[in-house]
Amino acid sequence: MKAAVVTDFAQPPHYADFPEPIAGKDEVVVEVLAAGLHPRVRSQAGGFHYTSTGELPLVPGVDAVVRDPEGKVRYAVLDDSTMGSMAERTVIGLNRSVVLPDEVDPVVVAAAMNPAMSSWVALRQRIDFGRGQSVLILGATGNAGRMAIQVAKRFGASEVMAVGRDTAKLAELSALGADRTLRFEEVAEAADVDVVIDYLWGEPTGKAMVDLLTHRSDRGKPLTWLEVGAAAGPEAAIPAAALRSARLQIVGSGIGSVPGRDFVKELPQLAEAVAHGAFDVRARAVPLAQVAEAWTSTAGTSDRIVLVP
Ligand SMILES: NC(=O)c1ccc[n+]([C@@H]2O[C@H](COP(=O)([O-])OP(=O)(O)OC[C@H]3O[C@@H](n4cnc5c(N)ncnc54)[C@H](OP(=O)(O)O)[C@@H]3O)[C@@H](O)[C@H]2O)c1
Repeated sequence: MKAAVVTDFAQPPHYADFPEPIAGKDEVVVEVLAAGLHPRVRSQAGGFHYTSTGELPLVPGVDAVVRDPEGKVRYAVLDDSTMGSMAERTVIGLNRSVVLPDEVDPVVVAAAMNPAMSSWVALRQRIDFGRGQSVLILGATGNAGRMAIQVAKRFGASEVMAVGRDTAKLAELSALGADRTLRFEEVAEAADVDVVIDYLWGEPTGKAMVDLLTHRSDRGKPLTWLEVGAAAGPEAAIPAAALRSARLQIVGSGIGSVPGRDFVKELPQLAEAVAHGAFDVRARAVPLAQVAEAWTSTAGTSDRIVLVP
């Protein structure tokens, strides 16, 4: 069969022949309808994700919309293995998938689930998020950030503040439910926020954390910092004094800090919301045969690329 194949971590995947997948215990071989090119897939294909085993060749792809042997359309999260979702066929565990309505657009679901899951799971599984709390999103202009605005509103956030570096993209976020949009230089204006959802880390987080902590009107009021992504860098410099000066709690959310069973628990409700059009989704379908071009031509576009075999 044809697949996107990585044979060298320094090169983008190429469209090539790959052995047919073989189902293991509690798995089935499925036809792939659409697979999203998420940042997590880029780090998997580049061999630098924290779950990478270094094994090659590999087919990248961590999730997909698929058709199972009975003809049902499903959204599936894949195990970490060399047989990912960017192929004509792959293997899934039925217990890590959810049946979708027949009329669903596979490209929209494949684009939305990974970015939407990031804030959905973080708010539901990692903290005790309650209606009426305010939320600030660092990196709000990306796919996951745009979803986080909509997810936080859905879960009853009293105010959602969206922070980004691109003013044109920021201007689009009110339509998604952002109550305020801020550039990084203005973060201190949101200092009394209850929960930060952080997609950036790196330098912007180091600065934003100090700005927020040192401008809080009540430093005894809890601030929960959800570390969900690292789009701006894997490390951030956090001054010790800033941590001691306010009631801050930093909590990570991702594979490992949230057990697989807890991710899976959230799939049905989220998939139903996505399938029924609850979220504004930006997706661009690209034929799987063009995977190498898609990999390198994405800079500057904000639509989530979805590969379609
Ligand atoms: N833990 C989880 O469950 C989970 C799930 C999904 C995603 N993630 C992670 O979340 C992060 C974002 O994912 P995504 O799907 O939103 O990616 P994306 O669509 O590519 O968006 C990236 C975002 O980061 C911003 N950004 C990148 N570098 C920056 C910098 N140096 N300074 C300021 N802003 C910067 C971008 O700003 P511009 O719009 O201005 O370019 C954009 O808002 C990634 O690290 C991803 O791996 C984690």
